[in-house]
Amino acid sequence: MYSEKVMDHFQHPRNVGEIENASGVGTVGNAKCGDIMRIFLDIDDETHIIKDCKFKTFGCGAAVATSSMATELVMGKTIEEAMEVTNKAVMEALDGLPPVKIHCSLLAEEAIHAALWDYAEKHHIKIEGLSKPKSDIHEGEEDTEEEY
Ligand code: FES
Repeated sequence: MYSEKVMDHFQHPRNVGEIENASGVGTVGNAKCGDIMRIFLDIDDETHIIKDCKFKTFGCGAAVATSSMATELVMGKTIEEAMEVTNKAVMEALDGLPPVKIHCSLLAEEAIHAALWDYAEKHHIKIEGLSKPKSDIHEGEEDTEEEY
């Protein structure tokens, strides 16, 4: 059902954790299942290169695997390049997901966009193609059950 890459990223997720004083933080929830994801970005203010990216999720295996892959894909990229890391690109990098799990991959894309939005707001810049996140969840509202 799942590709080897999905299983690998699920069992050994990369870049799990938080970044202290992150340049941008995005928290989103998946309306279909109630799962939650938070992405932390450390962005160089001069070059706009993403120097570090970490995630925490309370979500299913596919959400963990797609987030893990998404953090690897955006690392070292500029903000503009990171905008091209869509859920489709993440799924391709993972050799696909079962159709019922495609919505899970949206969580990572939306969380990255929310973190970029946070960065853009703090720095008063406009990021081409980026719109205000729909499902941003504010501090203290999320579930406190076990997190990855
Ligand atoms: Fe919720 Fe996958 S079932 S993100």
